[in-house]
Amino acid sequence: MNDAIEIKKDIYYLGVSDPDIRTFDIIMKTANGTTYNSYLIKTDEGVIILDTVKEEFSDEFFSKIESICSYEDIKCIVMHHLEPDHSGALPELALRAPDAKIYLSPMAQPMLKSIAKTDNMEFETVWTNKELKLGSKTLKFLSTPHLHWPETISSYLVEDNILFSGDVFGSHYYDKRLFNDLVGDFEYSFKYYYDHIMRPFKSDVIKALSLYETLDIDTICNLHGPIIRDNPQKYMNLYKEWSSTSQRLHGKKIISIFYVTSYKNTKDMAQNMYDGVEADENLIANIYDLTALDEQNMLTILEESTGILIGAPTINGDVPKPVWDLLSCMMLLEKKGKFGGCFGSYGWSGEAVEMMNSRLKALKFRVPLAPKKIKLIPTKEELLECYDFGVEFGEIVNGKMMEMTL
Ligand code: FEO
Repeated sequence: MNDAIEIKKDIYYLGVSDPDIRTFDIIMKTANGTTYNSYLIKTDEGVIILDTVKEEFSDEFFSKIESICSYEDIKCIVMHHLEPDHSGALPELALRAPDAKIYLSPMAQPMLKSIAKTDNMEFETVWTNKELKLGSKTLKFLSTPHLHWPETISSYLVEDNILFSGDVFGSHYYDKRLFNDLVGDFEYSFKYYYDHIMRPFKSDVIKALSLYETLDIDTICNLHGPIIRDNPQKYMNLYKEWSSTSQRLHGKKIISIFYVTSYKNTKDMAQNMYDGVEADENLIANIYDLTALDEQNMLTILEESTGILIGAPTINGDVPKPVWDLLSCMMLLEKKGKFGGCFGSYGWSGEAVEMMNSRLKALKFRVPLAPKKIKLIPTKEELLECYDFGVEFGEIVNGKMMEMTL
């Protein structure tokens, strides 16, 4: 399929299909393959290209451009996102269309140089309310950072009510019928994509939605999967619903305590911390044995919790695997505003507690208390210290106490 497809008058789809890809970005399964979407706007003063495609699909991409215009016609290239699946063909496009100016966010500027391997590209940085006018078309830019890279932007074609959303509202779902009202049921893929790509940036999703909501959008041209021309509001509402999860239950903040235990010592510490947290009637404490929790449940619990405490003994100088599983699934989670703390009983060296604590700090949790370590079997006094640890952690999460910086 080497001809561009007209999706509205003078607006063309230049995207390419990758139906056989089965894993994307290492972490995502792609049972239906994917697409790398790109668009072309034709005006009486020249052409705007919006994003390119993965490098290995360049030939098909350039054939599509050539089916519409000559390279001399291309005046502007808008890059909403510079990840290689969208910028792969950019260096070659810039060579073929030397008169084109590249529009991108200020954050993207240093990256552009390393992608293009040249300083000879003319570019302009853009942000919310800046406009690009070419012939009869007006493209308004929107700053939508962290969706899902720091440099991402969106744009809105005023005359045609089209939102070019970048990866936002994408799906890894190839279907040659192209439009959301014609393709098969891709909703599982739309949610899966959100969970893996956008969920860690929920607060940025909400900010982007507040910009989108000021616009009259009848079509969403995203960078992966079906173009959304039927009921775009439905998809915006879904993003709003998924990004608005409250971290409160019945108006109370949640602190979740996760532990693994060999001889019940770390479990006893966890239980006393739980009791300490529960002493505050404005908090809800949860306690979980990690050996019986699967990843989806971990994510749901983590998302709802304002504070988390993790306890583990040290085994062979390391943290036991169920705890690493918990710590690694946090890459799919927004950590902004969350508190963390660690504890554990140990026999000899006891490195696990510091390892977990370092990992929470690296993930940008606020870690206000020194980790709590107890050698082997906690005494009554030490269990009381665990209770106090729970009380103090709870007070910090609830904002009652000045947070200590450690
Ligand atoms: Fe589709 Fe973030 O690249």
